[in-house]
Amino acid sequence: MKNIPVVMIIFGGSGDLAHRKLYPALFNLYEQGLIHDNFAVIGTARRPWSHEYLRGQVSDAIHETHDEVDENDVKDFASHFYYQSHDVTNVEHYVTLKELAQDLDDRYCAQGNRLFYMAMAPRFFGTIATHINDQHLTGSGFNRIVVEKPFGRDLASAEELNKQITASFKEDEIFRIDHYLGKEMVQNILPLRFTNPLIKNIWNSDNIKNIQVTLAERLGVEARGGYYETSGALRDMVQNHIFQIITLLAMPEPENISADNIHKAKQELLDSLIIPDAEEIKKHFVRGQYAGSDTTFAYKQEPNVDENSTTETFAAGEVKFTKGPIAGVPIYFRTGKEFKEKKNRIDIVLKHINNPYGRAHSNNITIEIDPKSEIYITINGKRISEPGIRRENLEYTFSKEELSQVPDGYERLLHDVFVNDSTNFTHWSELKRYWEYIDAIEDAWKQENESGNVDIPQYLPYRMGPKEANHIFESATEHWIYE
Ligand code: BG6
Repeated sequence: MKNIPVVMIIFGGSGDLAHRKLYPALFNLYEQGLIHDNFAVIGTARRPWSHEYLRGQVSDAIHETHDEVDENDVKDFASHFYYQSHDVTNVEHYVTLKELAQDLDDRYCAQGNRLFYMAMAPRFFGTIATHINDQHLTGSGFNRIVVEKPFGRDLASAEELNKQITASFKEDEIFRIDHYLGKEMVQNILPLRFTNPLIKNIWNSDNIKNIQVTLAERLGVEARGGYYETSGALRDMVQNHIFQIITLLAMPEPENISADNIHKAKQELLDSLIIPDAEEIKKHFVRGQYAGSDTTFAYKQEPNVDENSTTETFAAGEVKFTKGPIAGVPIYFRTGKEFKEKKNRIDIVLKHINNPYGRAHSNNITIEIDPKSEIYITINGKRISEPGIRRENLEYTFSKEELSQVPDGYERLLHDVFVNDSTNFTHWSELKRYWEYIDAIEDAWKQENESGNVDIPQYLPYRMGPKEANHIFESATEHWIYE
């Protein structure tokens, strides 16, 4: 693999994301030779750590995520890390950061290449971007910036943030990361759709009745109540992960699989996204909050959550497009905390056909993203010893060994940033559409809250979310396939 020289600056170097995801992913890329002798990483955060302390943390992060490692490799890898105690609002700190970056650039022959990674609380993204610009932190080689979600909390704030970032970075230097786009089965959607005549030829509104996307979690908000109060399920999961999945499911066929053509096809679809009106939102959208039990807190009792909170921990709704192969087909989504199990899956429900046997189910195609990685198609056949039709699954699965080779989403996406492949990142024009849609629902819900007679369904923990979500469908013959 080509060795890429770079000085990487991680804002949020003492944080959970850096420890659990970024350091292990960078180590794997180092082991593969993508970054090797000519890289340095500066971790910044407020805590008064030393270079040595950060290196100890990096080495712990590798040991916690790898069964077997060569200790010399870990030591060498960690030796490339430097720490700067940094207050993101203090101009002086950017001056020293710039000097440190330049010094490391000389020492490691990084050719003026800079990679900035925003891995801290989103409220600081704009401030950091402004200081990067004002203090001229960019280098003389390539400059790239990775921005974690959430990118804004509505269209207006996303636009403001984008303005701050584009003051220093061009659109093709900005990598808005969505870790779902690094997941194996999400990356499988386009090959599945476009390389199988069996699937490609039925992927249209004549044959598909509806599509259902479920991103369900067993966990509650845990220690993230403070953040979650500013977000809710719609902003936390729908604006990004669910919309990215839906876009891959509904976009027209790209001319080829270059990043440009994939984004072009996505944009063509998103231009035709229907923004629901108030009446549709009433009919086809549901929110909920998990209730407590003898042993668990209700959402409203979680630490840092307002006892009268109207923040949703569950959201379900409908997305439709006027263009693309499945124009007009309802795409239903739901996502929630404290479901009966962790389950990320997509169900594609085909229409019934008349047949000489009478009653028979139609086919469903299911793509399970997590916890398993598999695809199955329900198929009808003849019963063996009695008349009638039986239904079985045709399965596409991976062996244990194959699964063990699947890189973590962050490793994949960081690799893409290093090699400058933006296929699996969110472009501004896409993001804008997602926010327009989310804002419409947030506004409707806000009005409902302000009307005073809002009654957000409370759902029992570790079940299937609020029962109201079973009534969002357009017709009485539709229901959730996964129940
Ligand atoms: C994150 C959300 O983006 O995705 C979290 O902020 C959520 O609230 C997480 O738990 C789910 O990701 P995954 O990969 O575990 O399905």
